[in-house]
Amino acid sequence: MSTRYIIANWKMNIKGDEAREYAIGLEQYLVNNPTQSTVVLCPPILCLPSISSVKPTQFSLGVQNFYPMDSGSVTGEHSLAMLDSLNVSYAIIGHSERRILFNEDEDSIARKIKYAVEKGYSIILCIGESREERELGITQQRIEQQLQVLSSLPKESTTPICIAYEPLWAIGTGIIPQVDEIATCVQSIKKYIDENLDQYSKSIYTLYGGSVTQDNVASILAIDGIHGVLVGSASLQLDSFTGIIGKS
Ligand code: PGA
Repeated sequence: MSTRYIIANWKMNIKGDEAREYAIGLEQYLVNNPTQSTVVLCPPILCLPSISSVKPTQFSLGVQNFYPMDSGSVTGEHSLAMLDSLNVSYAIIGHSERRILFNEDEDSIARKIKYAVEKGYSIILCIGESREERELGITQQRIEQQLQVLSSLPKESTTPICIAYEPLWAIGTGIIPQVDEIATCVQSIKKYIDENLDQYSKSIYTLYGGSVTQDNVASILAIDGIHGVLVGSASLQLDSFTGIIGKS
């Protein structure tokens, strides 16, 4: 079976003991219910030390954000170098919430990609069109535009790159695109990779994100070319996240 990713993005939710208990429960679930999928947990940065102290062996850890420098005068930010002892190996980059709330543009996303990959991190690059762009019929152009940041990938990189296709109008809304709409976008991503990033094609995986639940995950994972899912709200309860893993 090809690699499949089930990734939880807690966003700005869950804290303290609750985070640690969730991690212990997830480890236990995966020990008792082995999966072929690669499971990744991206909690708020403050939870990483306590979750890392659980020494998870069945799932990997990721960050939701970082600044692309080892250290320096960057008030309020954190670097990947600060996470060195915490066994963090994935980094989400370009999530639409960061693009919108923090004005993250293509330049800063490209710098983050280059920096994280040089540090040996696997990245989860989020792309996707807004409702307006969809209505204007420019979804495919928008996707192609957002993929251009991948030209910043170091030439020799072989680290896994996940591209999460997340239509903005599907995030946190309970509405998901039709299966054939997702399939069309997956095909556009594949075409772009074949034409522009052929040397990385074996290490690039396409994921879907936006209102993924236990009820819809199987039909999403059945789409040709989809290698996994990025899960927000439905990853906040352990039962619901393990339900998704169970169906993968
Ligand atoms: P959601 O979030 O699953 O709550 O829609 C997905 C995401 O933003 O990655």
